[in-house]
Amino acid sequence: MIGSDGQIGGAPTLEYASEVGGLLDDGLLLANSGGTILAVNTAAVRLLGESVVGKNLAEVVEYDEAIEKQKRLANNGIDKEFLFQPKSTVRREFKVRIKQLENGLVLVLVMDMTLQRNLEKVRRDFVANVSHELRSPLTSLAGFIETILNNEIQDHETLIRFLKIMDEEAKRMARLIDDLLSLSRVEVDEHIVPSEIVPLLEVIRSVIHSLEDRAKRRNMRIDFLDNRPTSSANLYMYGYADEINEVFHNLIDNAIKYGFEKTSIIVHVNAQQDDHVIISVSNFGDQIAEKHLSRLTERFYRVDKARSRQIGGTGLGLAIVKHIVNRHRGLLSVKSLSEGKTTFTVELPIINGSERKNASKRRNVSS
Ligand SMILES: Nc1ncnc2c1ncn2[C@@H]1O[C@H](COP(=O)(O)OP(=O)(O)OP(=O)(O)O)[C@@H](O)[C@H]1O
Ligand SMILES: [Mg+2]
Repeated sequence: MIGSDGQIGGAPTLEYASEVGGLLDDGLLLANSGGTILAVNTAAVRLLGESVVGKNLAEVVEYDEAIEKQKRLANNGIDKEFLFQPKSTVRREFKVRIKQLENGLVLVLVMDMTLQRNLEKVRRDFVANVSHELRSPLTSLAGFIETILNNEIQDHETLIRFLKIMDEEAKRMARLIDDLLSLSRVEVDEHIVPSEIVPLLEVIRSVIHSLEDRAKRRNMRIDFLDNRPTSSANLYMYGYADEINEVFHNLIDNAIKYGFEKTSIIVHVNAQQDDHVIISVSNFGDQIAEKHLSRLTERFYRVDKARSRQIGGTGLGLAIVKHIVNRHRGLLSVKSLSEGKTTFTVELPIINGSERKNASKRRNVSS
């Protein structure tokens, strides 16, 4: 029972409140019957600022009075709940719950809903994007099917041309679905640290080999440079070969798509630190403007939507790369210079010699 002097059975309420409040992620405020704030917990300071003690509640958790007039604190403040957006440069949203205690003291809970709101928005945008990306090829396919069914095509050549376009559109849809499945798989497994051993350079060399023909068709060359002092030595890491393959496949595929014709792509293995290696993929093309750089790994983000779509991109490649790199406890970064050199860098943890011997011993014992 809390007394009107702010005591619970002899223990001071304010101390009690701040002790209990310290356990909460939500902000907790205690005010007197006039609305003057007497005490706050650490989360409330984080959410509302340092200097709220002594201020009036109505001032601190202001809300849109026009919408919420009937729920105002002046109306005796019993069990109210409302949303409130603090004035700040970053858009945030708090849910506020107010409870008036028997002795006139007022207890206020402030919950930060920003992350939840943002996640809801990401989910809505995602569904809208997927629907849009699937609808475009589907509409095109339906159009061609209708034309063919209506016997509107007289000659064989036109029919073949239409079927080729339909084939492309169907493949685009299949690619999109594969990418979405791949993305959701790596997202789900992101917290599981991989345990298999991957010969990193072998994987990269095989990716280069598989993409060489595509590069040639654009008169491009893929150069592999190994700058380590012991460049012949292979590098091993804990990981999944398929996923590491996907990382470099996506990066080199982008370099071929977005680099200019007749330029080189450089895959560079850089100085190996104790337990890390840095691998970069560079191409020469249009510079990516600064404002796009931090958004490239968002799903469906494309600098030039029309151009990427025309090339066949869905904007999921780098999102997949980012999640795989995260899963492998690595780092992905990008730089684009005004001369048009764009470099994606992947830093990956590697296994040093003795660790590898132990790992293979463990493997022998367990197998
Ligand atoms: N090497 C690069 N040079 C210039 N722009 C790039 C490069 N790599 C990526 N981008 C830009 O980043 C965007 C996102 O790349 P991402 O790989 O995620 O998608 P995509 O290549 O369009 O499609 P997908 O990889 O799904 O087939 C691209 O659309 C392009 O605008
Ligand atoms: Mg791509």
